[in-house]
Amino acid sequence: MLKAFTSLLASPDSAEHKRSSARSHAADIRDLIRRDHEELLTLVGKLTEARSAATRSRFLKQLAYAAPAHDKPEERAVYAALKKATDESADIAHEGKVEHELVSGLLKKLSRMRDLGSDQAKAHAEVLKELLEHHIEEEHSEMFEQLERDFDAEQRVVMGAAFLAAKQAFARAHGSSKTARKAASRRPAKSGR
Ligand SMILES: [Fe+2]
Ligand SMILES: [Fe+2]
Repeated sequence: MLKAFTSLLASPDSAEHKRSSARSHAADIRDLIRRDHEELLTLVGKLTEARSAATRSRFLKQLAYAAPAHDKPEERAVYAALKKATDESADIAHEGKVEHELVSGLLKKLSRMRDLGSDQAKAHAEVLKELLEHHIEEEHSEMFEQLERDFDAEQRVVMGAAFLAAKQAFARAHGSSKTARKAASRRPAKSGR
């Protein structure tokens, strides 16, 4: 299983980079995931609490970057390993992927809305928040328990390094969250409430 796990940690980065990355960021994958989840929950909270369309647009743009910047590396470094571990962990990964797609669909729908101050936009933001909270809660319980059961501490650190490498690759391909924030501040949304 260790062999299968190691082989699936393929990333565009070199083996040496992965090794040095693992040494410099010796973090259990669960700590890294928890950190991202906090940011996602903060952003979706601000999205739902926004009192104007312009503010909602700002947080929507940040979340539209932050969600895939977490989900894609998680699928690559974590779900891929879970799929190869046991039937039980594979089920968790498959369900997680479906929820990622639902989050992505809602974000896209919100991004296409002309009036983010509308009741329809608020309803979509609220459902997105509920979905994210549910997904994160399940990852913190079922998925974290499975990671504890199927992988040892060293494997979870290697997984953490692969996750960070995949996050860096995502940022290189799609621009950093800083860039996303700048873009959001440059393009004010249609004014609303
Ligand atoms: Fe996650
Ligand atoms: Fe996830």
